[in-house]
Amino acid sequence: MIVLGIESSCDETAAALVRDDGLIVSDVVASQVKLHAPFGGVVPELASRAHMRNLVPVLEQALGEDGLDKVDAIAVTNGPGLVGALLVGVQAAKAMAMVRGLPLVGVNHLVGHLLSVALHREGEPHTAPEMPFIALVASGGHTALYEVRGSEDVEQLGQTRDDAAGEAFDKVAKLLGLGYPGGPRIDALAAKGEAGRVPLPRPMKRRSSLDFSFSGLKTAVAQQVRERGVPEDDAGLADFCASFQSVVITSLVDKSIAACKQRKVPRLVITGGVAANRGLRALAAERCAREGIEAFLPPPRTCTDNAAMIAYAGACRLRQRGDDDGLGLPIFSRSPILGAKPGSAASKRYRSMRLPRE
Ligand code: KG4
Ligand code: ZN
Repeated sequence: MIVLGIESSCDETAAALVRDDGLIVSDVVASQVKLHAPFGGVVPELASRAHMRNLVPVLEQALGEDGLDKVDAIAVTNGPGLVGALLVGVQAAKAMAMVRGLPLVGVNHLVGHLLSVALHREGEPHTAPEMPFIALVASGGHTALYEVRGSEDVEQLGQTRDDAAGEAFDKVAKLLGLGYPGGPRIDALAAKGEAGRVPLPRPMKRRSSLDFSFSGLKTAVAQQVRERGVPEDDAGLADFCASFQSVVITSLVDKSIAACKQRKVPRLVITGGVAANRGLRALAAERCAREGIEAFLPPPRTCTDNAAMIAYAGACRLRQRGDDDGLGLPIFSRSPILGAKPGSAASKRYRSMRLPRE
């Protein structure tokens, strides 16, 4: 089965063809980073308009000469995300499904990230973890830990109480005058600096909680900048970035390993845009090796927003459920998993992963 995936929940317009075993046939992403950079963050109305401009060319490129002839089903992100942005992808998916009589399935963007570890390209080794596995999703909009027992059986173990990790990178980069998006810039500078030179608070050190918090850290950075200004020399700026990055990635890795231990699951997947961070990848690999945990770090292109992960999650959903969502597929701006505590009614309801039908 070949599934066409469409992703337009935030600032990437993406389309991909994926076989139901996770093999990527095509994978096209049009980024809007340059469009939003002058504003220091994503502007929802501009994002929706850019999706409208970009979606057809992106689809044409992903589908190639055969168009929809070889497509067996369509999967589209229907939440969480920016409502106007989601609508562009969902309406296009509905139109194609209706015209060609194809099954249509809605995919939770976060589930796409969680299952993306099974994606692979021709000629590349296929190293997906067996289930269950623990997964950390750290991106610009989300930071949360999950136990993934099956493609339709996911439990949220913890989440950020305030800012997402990527958001903290972006806000701190803005305070330091480094531009948007901040993650890659802080990552590059941190590689040249020494962590610990700038004293910063370690958030949520309490062992038992699997929640994160990054807003206190951001406030501490803002206070330092207010009192002492942005370091003027390159070495000082690099040390600042290294110190900030070290606090964030230590928190992410500590909590991820604690989740593996609490659940007695020795497999950890790290994904989302922040998983592209070189410091995080190195620290996770080192700490997991020490703790006897197998670490799965998909390539950065798979970690950041893309449509291949949506196509694959859609294929899993179709296989598991055997029916599609049809043209009544709704969109939702907030995820039903966010805020669901382990064992809570919301978390149990989420297990079936059936999105609300209206
Ligand atoms: O998953 P993603 O592409 O989009 C969503 O937010 O869903 O993640 C984007 C986030 C941004 O906040 C960006 O600054 C961060 O991921 N990011 C990084 C790196 N590359 C991207 N953060 C730290 N280090 C990086 N190398
Ligand atoms: Zn994402």
